[in-house]
Amino acid sequence: MSDAILETTGLGKRFGAFAANSDIDFSVQEGELRAVIGPNGAGKTTFFNLLAGVTQATDGEIRFRGERITPLRAPRRVARGIAKAFQTANIYPSETVLQNCRLAALARVSGLFAFEVFRSSRRLVDVDGIAHEALELVELEPLAGVRAGDLSHGDKKRLDIAVALATKPRVLLLDEPVAGMSLDEVRKTDGLIRGLAKRMTVLLIEHDMTMIMGISDSITVLHQGKILAEGTPAEIRANARVQEAYLGGHTEGHL
Ligand SMILES: Nc1ncnc2c1ncn2[C@@H]1O[C@H](COP(=O)(O)OP(=O)(O)O)[C@@H](O)[C@H]1O
Ligand SMILES: [Mg+2]
Repeated sequence: MSDAILETTGLGKRFGAFAANSDIDFSVQEGELRAVIGPNGAGKTTFFNLLAGVTQATDGEIRFRGERITPLRAPRRVARGIAKAFQTANIYPSETVLQNCRLAALARVSGLFAFEVFRSSRRLVDVDGIAHEALELVELEPLAGVRAGDLSHGDKKRLDIAVALATKPRVLLLDEPVAGMSLDEVRKTDGLIRGLAKRMTVLLIEHDMTMIMGISDSITVLHQGKILAEGTPAEIRANARVQEAYLGGHTEGHL
């Protein structure tokens, strides 16, 4: 437990009377590739938003490298090394692929004081280096000069990951990175995520079970806002409660 990079205790998020997340005791080790799965509406995205500081918890605590980060907003968590890919929502379509990554890298290098960066040319060099490195990691470097809005769906999703990478995270949160991709693109992105997982801790929400079972060190299953099960891919596959939750989801329409 002591070398957990990210950990939550009693974590919860209420929207009015509705608990989208509750009683989540969660811990991930440095370097782990952890999948978070569950039926639609299970609370997966809410959980990642709590970890990223996009939304604030209504209950419980979050610790990153042993330090309590519960009250910190997203930019401060990014500065510490937690980044979430935002399903293309934070891509500037009229800017180039490279410029999108530079903007993210700028935020990281300059911390919370963006104007400081212009005082130091060394930092601008850093920004370019980080941006190019992020693009190389997702194999988008050949498209660096293309307008982000002109990318294919799969390349936009990979740019979204690159933007997160340009903040130099230690923990990378990916919410359905292959959703809507063709089989070829899924295969390519699967390989990229495996590569990223060698460099950092990756938390991954995905519905593609073939991918999840092949890629994960361990899996956390959320159901109705709570942890239903945790284990290796083999353990989760064999778990009767997990199978029931998925089946129930299809017949009852969730929550
Ligand atoms: N901002 C919000 N206000 C009210 N309810 C929300 C909000 N965000 C999510 N929810 C509800 O919380 C539940 C979990 O949503 P979500 O975390 O998106 O699930 P998942 O990502 O597992 O599909 C859903 O019932 C959803 O309608
Ligand atoms: Mg979701």
